[in-house]
Amino acid sequence: MTALSSIKVALGRTAFITGGGQGIGRAIALRLARDGHDISIADIPAAQARVDEVVKEIQSYGRKAIFVTADVREPKQIYAAVEETVEKLGPNLFVSVANAGVTQVKPLLECTPEFMENEIRINLLGFMNTHIAAARQMVKQKGGGRILGAGSIASYRTAENLGPYGATKFAVRAFTEAAAREWAQYGIRVNAYGPGIVDTPMWDHIDRELARIEGIDIGAAKEIRVKRDIKLGRIQQPEDVAKLVSFLVSDEGEYITGQTIKTCGGASL
Ligand SMILES: NC(=O)c1ccc[n+]([C@@H]2O[C@H](COP(=O)([O-])OP(=O)(O)OC[C@H]3O[C@@H](n4cnc5c(N)ncnc54)[C@H](O)[C@@H]3O)[C@@H](O)[C@H]2O)c1
Repeated sequence: MTALSSIKVALGRTAFITGGGQGIGRAIALRLARDGHDISIADIPAAQARVDEVVKEIQSYGRKAIFVTADVREPKQIYAAVEETVEKLGPNLFVSVANAGVTQVKPLLECTPEFMENEIRINLLGFMNTHIAAARQMVKQKGGGRILGAGSIASYRTAENLGPYGATKFAVRAFTEAAAREWAQYGIRVNAYGPGIVDTPMWDHIDRELARIEGIDIGAAKEIRVKRDIKLGRIQQPEDVAKLVSFLVSDEGEYITGQTIKTCGGASL
């Protein structure tokens, strides 16, 4: 059975997604598969069982899907994952989504060098290395491409207890602009998505940490922020982010490059 979306059909093209085992990355993988892409999901070994479920679901759409293990803190593993993707799915890498990321919630005065280094290695170095590894392959293929990265509303305005996270997401915006400038000549468009408060395990983690810092009940930090900040009146679902990615990858987004686009239900207003 095929389950192709109406927006476009991308048969014969591969999309590579880091951190696709859950949350936003999972929704992007499923959506791009419904758009017709074959999918390669790069995630850490601990995510194996979750990724296997995503792979099975994609295969049920009639698309190919593979799991390539990679910890984005290790550049060699990123390059190996791209290589394995091309070996197994063919030299048709058209989309790369540097989605893997972590948030660590702490007041700045409690942030240790190790804490910040880990966040920078995943959110920033992992993101940049993924972009470059994918772009090298796309340039070699001479068929253009679409490169996406995980920004955030924190790419524009950061918050208390999320300082190093916000710094990495501001940097995502800068690197997205630079890569878009350099790679337009190869037919590669580079953009980032900037979600707000998305209902994923990451936000459950933020909620637990904020509850501890603010001395409130678990669940309350999320509830307060959703009520106060989201103008559209509901928490964001991972699929809301995947819709933007699908659009940016498609020809509908053909004149957009170098942008970090907020999708947040008005939370940034
Ligand atoms: N959830 C939100 O509200 C929100 C808002 C704005 C931006 N974002 C960004 O979107 C991206 C995805 O967020 P999410 O909420 O889906 O997160 P999540 O924690 O639910 O999922 C993250 C995924 O990344 C994988 N991952 C973690 N460390 C990795 C590593 N070192 N190497 C490879 N994979 C690794 C995990 O195994 C998991 O599959 C992140 O970059 C995040 O910063 C999330």
